[in-house]
Amino acid sequence: MENEEINKQMEELFRLFKKMMEKYPPDSMPGIDKAQAEQLKMMLSNYDSMKVSFSSDMFGFFDEETTKKILAKLISQLREQLGEDAEEVVEKVSLVEQKEKEFEQLPHRYPMLSLGNTYDITEVQEFADRAVKTIGNSFTYSCELKFDGTAICLTYENGKLVKALTRGDGKVGDDVTENVKRISNIPQELKTPEGFIPTLTEPEPWPEQFEIRGEIYMPWAAFDRLNEERIKDEEQPFANPRNAAAGSLKLINSKEVANRGLECTLYHMLGENLPFQTHEQALKAAKEWGLPVSDKRKICKSIDEIEEFITYWDTERKDLPYATDGIVIKVNELAYQEDLGFTAKFPRWAVAYKFKAEQALTRLLSIDYQVG
Ligand code: IVH
Repeated sequence: MENEEINKQMEELFRLFKKMMEKYPPDSMPGIDKAQAEQLKMMLSNYDSMKVSFSSDMFGFFDEETTKKILAKLISQLREQLGEDAEEVVEKVSLVEQKEKEFEQLPHRYPMLSLGNTYDITEVQEFADRAVKTIGNSFTYSCELKFDGTAICLTYENGKLVKALTRGDGKVGDDVTENVKRISNIPQELKTPEGFIPTLTEPEPWPEQFEIRGEIYMPWAAFDRLNEERIKDEEQPFANPRNAAAGSLKLINSKEVANRGLECTLYHMLGENLPFQTHEQALKAAKEWGLPVSDKRKICKSIDEIEEFITYWDTERKDLPYATDGIVIKVNELAYQEDLGFTAKFPRWAVAYKFKAEQALTRLLSIDYQVG
């Protein structure tokens, strides 16, 4: 089977199992038949290359303990159906799980949430209408590319990078600081903007401590190069740059991370008493301090402007050197973000719009799982 075909099937299986897990709590999960066990075996045979993005997707819905329970349940069903034939894969999964433990788990200061998805402009309009109801209509939107990578949370103290955590289950993430330090566009020390004059009340241009979140991604060129090497070495290629980025960030040997060609873009600053009124001001400042912030963003005042931004990037993104899967729309004023707050899973001040090609794939893959 062609690699591309295997990758497609992998993605499909991943969605199917996620769907099943959403439907049934692990303790009452129904059994799977032999054909499904064969499919599961195929999926898990690539567990090393998909583990990280698999868990981070799962953690959007379940905590770590539940995810582990689900995996254990699937493994026991695999053994039940395939006997000896399951063992090679089971061993692989447990090896990956052991490796995972080598990263220290640290708590997030602020929960690391994901975003609600919308699939057409009317749903974006609904998001806007809901916001207007709470905060009136004198606010603006920051429209940005939705980078298709793996989320990261960086902490800077006194201008120095001190910590980098993955999303994990949103409450606790893996400490990947040493690996992140090997990513060439992430500064370990911030730079003082030209013309900054220190004062007693503002000795440094940046807050003493702040967090900045973003995405680590693998540009297409680095992804193609890595997969060519993996095929040459008879290793399973990565299904997509997102899995490749997530897998590379979890390499045990930090030095190898430098060779993976990972890049980072940052899009969300957090901290106590940050000196900004808007998200846009925070991103501008971050850029002046030398942090990688995309300039492919726009402040929009109306749904029409948002739609124009979406239409423009839906075409132009094909020429970008990295993968994007949508547009993120955020309320720009930080006080209004606070007024809007969060649901249990997502912020009410931001939403993701998925590009059509991505929607087709998501819809195709989200057919309801009929359990045997
Ligand atoms: S803002 C509170 N901005 O997409 C959530 N996220 O599906 C703040 N992503 O969890 C996230 N590009 O991992 C934001 N410009 C962008 C983004 C972005 C990619 C990722 C991020 C997020 C996920 C939501």
